Amino acid sequence: ERVLVLHGPNLNLLGTREPHIYGTLTQDEIVAETSAAAEPLGIRIDLLQSNHEGALIDALHAAPQQYDGVILNPSALTHTSIALRDAVGAIPTPVIEVHLSNVHAREPYRKVSYVADRVAATVSGAGAGGYVAAVVLLARIFAERGE
Ligand code: DQA
Repeated sequence: ERVLVLHGPNLNLLGTREPHIYGTLTQDEIVAETSAAAEPLGIRIDLLQSNHEGALIDALHAAPQQYDGVILNPSALTHTSIALRDAVGAIPTPVIEVHLSNVHAREPYRKVSYVADRVAATVSGAGAGGYVAAVVLLARIFAERGE
């Protein structure tokens, strides 16, 4: 199976961006760790990051043609974008929402996720481990479907 890690605004700066909140790993290092966990499960990982809401929506629309699952960190769009929420709801591909930080332990506006009730599961506050957890969850979803 193939899984897309889809990253929203500012996540291209991971590694140097507020490392006390988001950790010191870069996107590529997170994807490398996720891929290492995915490989024995027969899952291949691709990464797509955009700072543009429309590009993320386009990627979600295209996902069913190329991918069996999506690991989505919508970053700040989590808390603002009804359009992104609708895109998640519009595709049959299972989506796992991941946040590096614990969004429930931060500013009140981060407690609201517009995608949370459209995704299969949410992992928040586990750092890069959240992506590994998401891969394990997707592998179970694929297995339950008999793929
Ligand atoms: C984030 C949490 C969001 O609130 C924030 O806007 C981000 C990253 C996380 O991974 O912890 O950019 O999604």
